[in-house]
Amino acid sequence: MINKIGIVGGGNIGGVCVSEIVNRGLAREVALVDVKDPEFAAGKCLDIAEATPVYGRDIRVIGSKSYDILEGCDFVINTAGVPRAMRPDGTFPSREELLAINLKITDFVAAGIKKYAPNAFVISIANPLDAIVYRLFKKGGFKPNKIMGMAGVLDSARYKYFVSQEAGISVENIEAVVLGGHGDTMVPVRSATRIYGMPVEEFVTKAKLAKIEKRTRGAGGEVVKLLGSGSAFVSPAVSALEMIEAIAFDKKKIVPVAAYLQGEYGVKNLFVGVPVVLGKNGIEKIIKVKLNADEKKALKVSINAVKKTCAEVDKTK
Ligand code: APR
Repeated sequence: MINKIGIVGGGNIGGVCVSEIVNRGLAREVALVDVKDPEFAAGKCLDIAEATPVYGRDIRVIGSKSYDILEGCDFVINTAGVPRAMRPDGTFPSREELLAINLKITDFVAAGIKKYAPNAFVISIANPLDAIVYRLFKKGGFKPNKIMGMAGVLDSARYKYFVSQEAGISVENIEAVVLGGHGDTMVPVRSATRIYGMPVEEFVTKAKLAKIEKRTRGAGGEVVKLLGSGSAFVSPAVSALEMIEAIAFDKKKIVPVAAYLQGEYGVKNLFVGVPVVLGKNGIEKIIKVKLNADEKKALKVSINAVKKTCAEVDKTK
């Protein structure tokens, strides 16, 4: 069992992370930090703590506005950020303005984790994913094997779900890989998608697969549109916990994560979604997937998109 997990940001995703950790009995203690209101995180945690007798879990659940609550964490999940919302004057912030705001928040988060839990494994969920995890790494000074972005688990889960629905086969029988950035350039790798070990094309037509891959690339936006306000929160939260479980239980599990690449896939010093082996040392190995010519081309486009965003990050002080 893990001793302590910290969650930064107690909104929709942070809340599910805390309650799901309690539900699974994953740690002895969960600490939530959110700067929203003085008592917001404490309130959220008291609500969940009061449910521990119902869950049947003796887990300490604490929340605060102050980052010192993260002291001693083995893992920290970062969900802090502001969404793209309408201003009181009816206008929306531009993409650049939003990135600048979220980078400021990330700098604050990086300083907090660095001060109170410098040796924790850091899993970042906040968007824009590729930019935020890159900034956290730069500002927090975390080791490359101990910091990663959560995107691939979710993106490949979405891909698996859509394939399962189309094929009429259990989600448990679907194996899928999604590479690249966490955005509309992500690359669902059809040649690596299998149903019970067999090529996916034996179950789903090429035309249907093309539709599924397009839907996967836009899946986050699809949920945003349906919800009306906010974005997906259950699927990202449980995806991050899958990563934590692989590390905590030293599973040596191959999981797609946004990992710091140092030459792999021809990429240097950027976080890109690739399959890695997760074990007690965090990212223990980066797995190279064989790609066909089209997939290679698509991955290049995706990597260039990440490169462009990170160049913007580097320009922002
Ligand atoms: N430190 C701690 N918490 C912060 C900070 C900060 N510096 N700045 C903002 N927060 C908190 C907010 O107060 C809010 O409660 O982060 C929380 C974010 O919660 P939501 O707005 O509900 O967002 P959520 O749906 O949980 O998504 C979080 O993950 O998937 C991404 O795009 C999503 O970037 C977003 C993030």
